[in-house]
Amino acid sequence: MCGIVGYVGSKDVVTMLLNGLQKLEYRGYDSAGVAIVANGCLEVHKTKGRLSGLCSLMDGCKAPGAVGIGHTRWATHGEPSFENSHPHTNCAGDIAVVHNGIIENYMKLKKWLQDEGAVFVSETDTEVVAHLINHFYTDDLLSAVQAAVTHLEGSYALGVVSEKHPDMIVAARKDSPLVVGVGNSENMIASDIPAILEYTRDVIFLEDKEIAVLDCRSVRIFDEYGKPVNRDSYHVDWDAAQAEKGGYEHFMIKEIFEEPRVMADTFMSRYKEGMIDLSDIGIDEKLVRSIRKVGVIACGTAFHACMVGKYIIERLARIPVEAEIASEFRYRNPLIEPGQLVIIVSQSGETADTLAAMREAKKRGAKIAAIVNVVGSTISREADAVLYTHAGPEIAVASTKAYNTQLMAVYMIALELGRLSGNLPIEDYIRYVEGLKNIPQLMNTVLQTKDQLARIASRHFSQNSVFFIGRGLDYVLSMEASLKLKEISYIHSEAYAAGELKHGTIALIEDGTLVVATAMQRRLFDKTVSNIKEVKARGAKVLAVCFEGSDMPAEIADEVITLPDTDDIFAPLLAVTPMQLFAYYMTVEKGFDVDKPRNLAKSVTVE
Ligand code: F6R
Repeated sequence: MCGIVGYVGSKDVVTMLLNGLQKLEYRGYDSAGVAIVANGCLEVHKTKGRLSGLCSLMDGCKAPGAVGIGHTRWATHGEPSFENSHPHTNCAGDIAVVHNGIIENYMKLKKWLQDEGAVFVSETDTEVVAHLINHFYTDDLLSAVQAAVTHLEGSYALGVVSEKHPDMIVAARKDSPLVVGVGNSENMIASDIPAILEYTRDVIFLEDKEIAVLDCRSVRIFDEYGKPVNRDSYHVDWDAAQAEKGGYEHFMIKEIFEEPRVMADTFMSRYKEGMIDLSDIGIDEKLVRSIRKVGVIACGTAFHACMVGKYIIERLARIPVEAEIASEFRYRNPLIEPGQLVIIVSQSGETADTLAAMREAKKRGAKIAAIVNVVGSTISREADAVLYTHAGPEIAVASTKAYNTQLMAVYMIALELGRLSGNLPIEDYIRYVEGLKNIPQLMNTVLQTKDQLARIASRHFSQNSVFFIGRGLDYVLSMEASLKLKEISYIHSEAYAAGELKHGTIALIEDGTLVVATAMQRRLFDKTVSNIKEVKARGAKVLAVCFEGSDMPAEIADEVITLPDTDDIFAPLLAVTPMQLFAYYMTVEKGFDVDKPRNLAKSVTVE
């Protein structure tokens, strides 16, 4: 939520900040702004709405060799408006701050600062930070920021500049991501690596409560007690081009088309001579002998990967699994057995609720294995072990390829738990491993459903409500299909266990209601077909998803998507992609911004 950037060096700071913000716009797009210190003066330029508005405002502005910070906002405190846009300044307008996170005690601080004479112009929590730094400022910006952050409760990634220090940025973080880019006679800060990748591949991940001071020659880092910290930089090995659209109309469709490759990369990173090797993340015989249950915790789409995990781990390993939404887990005094395995799933590795749930589980003695995409993210650093998903940068707000790789990781863990527990016979294990290895190849065939789904979307995009039904793994797949559709097309949708519809929800089915029915669990095929008949009898239009060769009765399905034959257990891996394509084309038909849906942002670093 919110993206921040900062630049100090000899290049044009306006271009550097706007380029960086453009790469971070997925984190929020309610307003954008920059603060630049040039020729000894601090200037702030900001505007409500998307970054393109700020770019027009700054058209022709240049400030080579200056220092600056920038921000793209996802509103938390105060509506999207000019006044609430970042950067925020102190009363004298000589200190400017950009912030990502939430200052939880800002009301108390605001009252105190107002009593001291500060005049506030916005409703934001961030503005207190600017006044607080001003309060502690004598002649040293670093000391003022150090003093100010000791009063902040909540989460923050901060970039601070002052016209009294025209060659310096001070940055600080707690529970919100912040990287420092180390360049050649230039240095940068950003909420995420793509913002700086064009300029440097060497980054330093700031730890919680650390403060960095950047000028064009050096980066100095201090811990929360003000002691200098030596930190090696991390060399990023992926390409800036991977974070560009590469000829596709939207990031989302580009990312869907990357699925075969990134799923293969994720699988192959752990595949050794016919087996899956997870020994380095502690999934070994000793662990499996000692655990009585497994927890899987995440938010949103990543939670749906956990639900698939629950179904397949219980099926293959016969170990009870509790799948839980992170925002619930963290506050419900959960039962964790010492040494219990808890699997945390997160694309960004920065989601506030997931991070807090992980810390809670760890505090209660769990062993944490994290499935994470972003290397060096907070969750990846704090987990006991990490299984990286190799999805590469995911820019579209709606998660697609990252989800597919999370599923790949979850299947690998389930297979290993099955083998190690002795509940999955070795010949079945080998067959499943080979089946999983083959999935990326089958995905190329699955992607060929694209044109059919585009046509289906053109016929159904004016639906007000869509129901997704299925049984077993088809039901958990439906949960993700429904989320994808609603989050980008704004069409109301619900996922229902097909057998549960008749207990109430079927009352909502009327003439023309679209029902997307997945029937890929062969054992349950006839049961699902009966449920499809029930909705059809009440006037529903049906889009059925099944394996090729399935005996889907022509009279009950208005549209049928057939997917290449494989074991039922892998159905969610194949079926999710047509559902992503369906959501994509429905949204394109409606003319909405696919990559940046309203009210959402990538990387939810607030509660
Ligand atoms: C939906 C989506 C979100 C995320 C959720 C968790 O398309 O992307 O539901 O899955 O916010 O994010 P991560 O995986 O970064 O923890």
